[in-house]
Amino acid sequence: MMRLGVLASGSGSNLQAILDACAQGRIAAKVSAMICNVPGARALERAKAANVPAILLPHGAHPLREEYDARLVEELRRHDVNLVCLAGFMRIVTPVLLRAFPERVLNIHPSLLPAFPGMHAVRQALAAGVRISGCTVHLVDEGTDSGPIVVQAAVPVLDGDSEETLAARILVQEHRAYPRAIDLVASGRATAAGRKVSVRATVGDPARTIASPPLDDG
Ligand code: GAR
Repeated sequence: MMRLGVLASGSGSNLQAILDACAQGRIAAKVSAMICNVPGARALERAKAANVPAILLPHGAHPLREEYDARLVEELRRHDVNLVCLAGFMRIVTPVLLRAFPERVLNIHPSLLPAFPGMHAVRQALAAGVRISGCTVHLVDEGTDSGPIVVQAAVPVLDGDSEETLAARILVQEHRAYPRAIDLVASGRATAAGRKVSVRATVGDPARTIASPPLDDG
């Protein structure tokens, strides 16, 4: 069974979705450790409530990113983690982490990458006036939100959306997309070859359309 290490900085709602999916047997994995860099973050409480080791590792004590990541690797190894999931972890990770877990670090981002990488992705999407946005789960490489894409889910942007309402609509899909991506990677059904991930899963209706606004008023 795949042993997950989840890294979070905030509310931890994606962590919760992963914990729930493991508990319900929807993914053949268990969360072996949760590491958080922000004291008091709700993610810590969620891990404790699920009886998962909740490790607070504030980054302030390690001014060098590489030094901090070496501590992360130490903790992840101590808990025998073999797949690392960044879930609202608001830190840029370095090759120190990536080389310790090659092609075994996932991230979730609240946009349809490669659109709107980096900070404030939902704000960027609204400012650009796109009519469809969503979330992306991708393997992490050395760039910012640039690694091979495993799963994307799209939502409409509605007239009158604020950053909060659009982020909330995207978050609902994040909670479905992240467990799905973990399952695909953990089961070996999603494999990366260069920039592209090939996925062995049902295709669904290849003619289906996600349009915003809908393509007719029916
Ligand atoms: C999520 O929307 C996630 O996509 C985003 O932070 C939020 C964390 O929420 N991540 C990024 O913006 C990374 N660049 P959560 O703590 O409730 O899971």
